[in-house]
Amino acid sequence: MDVVEIEQIGSYVGQDVTLKGWVYNMRSSGKIVFLLVRDGTGIIQCIVEKSSVPGELFETVSRLTQESSIEVSGFVRADKRAPGGYELGVKELRIIQVAEDYPITPKEHGMPFLMDHRHLWLRSTRQHAIIKIRSGLVKFIRDFFDSRGFLCVDTPIFTPNACEGTTTLFETDYFGDKAYLTQSGQLYNEATAAAFRKVYSFGPTFRAEKSKTRRHLIEFWMVEPEVAFADLDDIMKLAEEFVTEIVQRTLEKYRGLLEEVLQRDISALEKVQPPFPRISYDEAAKILEEKGTGFEYGNDFGGTDETVLAEGFDKPFFVHRFPSAIKAFYMEPDPEDSRLSLSVDLLAPEGYGEIIGGGQRIHDLALLEKRIRENNLPKKAFEWYLDLRRYGTFPHAGFGLGLERALAYICGLKHVRETIPFPRLINRLSP
Ligand code: 4AD
Ligand code: MG
Repeated sequence: MDVVEIEQIGSYVGQDVTLKGWVYNMRSSGKIVFLLVRDGTGIIQCIVEKSSVPGELFETVSRLTQESSIEVSGFVRADKRAPGGYELGVKELRIIQVAEDYPITPKEHGMPFLMDHRHLWLRSTRQHAIIKIRSGLVKFIRDFFDSRGFLCVDTPIFTPNACEGTTTLFETDYFGDKAYLTQSGQLYNEATAAAFRKVYSFGPTFRAEKSKTRRHLIEFWMVEPEVAFADLDDIMKLAEEFVTEIVQRTLEKYRGLLEEVLQRDISALEKVQPPFPRISYDEAAKILEEKGTGFEYGNDFGGTDETVLAEGFDKPFFVHRFPSAIKAFYMEPDPEDSRLSLSVDLLAPEGYGEIIGGGQRIHDLALLEKRIRENNLPKKAFEWYLDLRRYGTFPHAGFGLGLERALAYICGLKHVRETIPFPRLINRLSP
């Protein structure tokens, strides 16, 4: 008998097959046992009828517990009433292990408990859906850049210098020297953009964020394109096409999971089509002052500010030209107003906050040296970066999209902790 995966069960209607998996749930009416079996690719209802199986099989089945591992063989039937549309009429069943009392039961558990059992929680339908969509989203992200001639160039995790400010650096000992876990691949992408023109990096990044928020992880994944000879407008256009494509492809492939398992409002995602609104920081500040959020001009937006701003938009929107003082050292000044920078954030609607940060980079050597001094950054560690301005400097721009923030938005999750298989939070390093 063929061993098949539940995802493919539709091709085996009318045949006998074997499944290998785990007992997700079971109920019994005395004469019939309904086993929900999951195998990682799907869930199927398996029916054991007392009248049509040997007595010992019925006894075996009665020993099963939630998450017991089994091999089950039977006849595949199409049945519209069955969850998933198919069911298995059981003929044989072999127990691999009768699982101990499973800690996660269908009753409600608190978040700390579930997070402590993250290694098991991932088996549940909702978590399974989120992580499956994450995997698809990663592919759609790669496809977007790969199909446009971007080269995927990996960047290091141990770095000698800060990219996004020194307050969130993770310091480690590197054979007697100081090293930091990377906050962003950007500085390296600027080097590889000079070698390959259009590049992207996609990997884990680290921020020692000392605040507990629903948008911050300590370890998160970022995709960062960098484009030689691009300016701020060019990368806003790129970001708009990028976000549209990844949202629409995710919606196309995972509509069922989004709608049925995650109860996502699909119509909100359907609206993600270009053009995205573009407002300046100054305009955003005016809106916030009018709405009385307590925002003060010159500051960065807080979570509440972002949520209030988003009330005016039903699709992602850009905020550009933030004051240089609140942005990273490498931001190109706005030629029209030197207090401002050619920076941009993309904010998701519905209160999901910033999903992209980026901008145009300073390409003038003297100005960059000045900024490194003003930010009290150690010049020696940045010599290699300054070389990019010494040997054929070039205007360039890029951005970073946080994978978990984007996924939280697409899946409609209020907190980023469920968007990554094993979240690292300020108070959580385990499991
Ligand atoms: O705005 P950020 O800090 O920008 C950069 O790191 C640039 N160097 C990127 C570039 O231009 N190449 O971070 C970019 C994005 C944010 O918009 C957000 O989506 C995500 O990374 N992000 C986080 N996601 C989860 N947890 C955190 N602590 C995050 N910090 C940033
Ligand atoms: Mg940012």
